[in-house]
Amino acid sequence: MTPDAEPTDRPEPSFLSGGGRGGTPSSSTVAAVDAAITSRHSIRAYLPTPVPRSAVEEILAVAARAPSGTNTQPWKVHVLTGASRAGLSAALCAAYDDPEEARRHTEEYAYYPTQWASPYIERRRKVGWDLYGLLGIGKTDKARMHAQHRRNYEFFSAPVGLIFTIDRVMQQGSWLDYGMFLQNIMVAARARGLDTCPQAAFTPFHRIIAQHLKLSADEMVVCGMSLGHADPGAVENSLVTERVPPSGFARFHD
Ligand SMILES: Cc1cc2nc3c(=O)[nH]c(=O)nc-3n(C[C@H](O)[C@H](O)[C@H](O)COP(=O)(O)O)c2cc1C
Repeated sequence: MTPDAEPTDRPEPSFLSGGGRGGTPSSSTVAAVDAAITSRHSIRAYLPTPVPRSAVEEILAVAARAPSGTNTQPWKVHVLTGASRAGLSAALCAAYDDPEEARRHTEEYAYYPTQWASPYIERRRKVGWDLYGLLGIGKTDKARMHAQHRRNYEFFSAPVGLIFTIDRVMQQGSWLDYGMFLQNIMVAARARGLDTCPQAAFTPFHRIIAQHLKLSADEMVVCGMSLGHADPGAVENSLVTERVPPSGFARFHD
């Protein structure tokens, strides 16, 4: 598919043909869609294998089929490779490594609550310690924790770094739309054998990002994302996170 082609121009997928949207998906279709979703994990170490620009364009074109309130499509994506990715990473790492400088950078929006509550705080702690446990980082090993968090700013060595922005005039609903777009990118990447890690770690450093990417004043940094080929030998990529089953979060009202 060329980047400019509308995915809607394509013929209906086989599981929709004949019966249209009412057609019964084949079990292989169900398995393929489910596998693209469930095989997505946050990948925190990548091989240097490049990702062709055409693949990124195709993923973004598919992802842009995400729904959005009144079709507002509030996403803006900055795709960083090569020198631009390296330049931004170097600037972010320098700021992160300098405690005084790092303190001067704060988020523009609150991703997390200021007052943590159960069960979220326990889940948050668990994933953190599970990751550090795999990497052999102890609870008092601040230097290695710093080094691991710093990997965020190198896009975990992924060849493609994505920075997502939103127009400041857009409201909470558009952030909901944005999440669907981000998930579409991650699932479409999986369908192509690629991996991702969504990253809020970039948000405190929005001023550095704005300077490097020459963002307009109305663009606000939402998050970043690494995209590439997972390094199968990296222990951090073996992290499998838990999920509460539907019985723990869904109530059926008959
Ligand atoms: C919007 C968003 C921001 C995130 N930011 C980071 C980040 O900055 N660094 C990181 O290593 N992981 C980040 N994560 C990954 C989460 O830790 C991860 O999704 C969660 O632990 C569940 O694991 P899984 O993605 O492997 O299923 C982020 C996830 C989301 C959705």
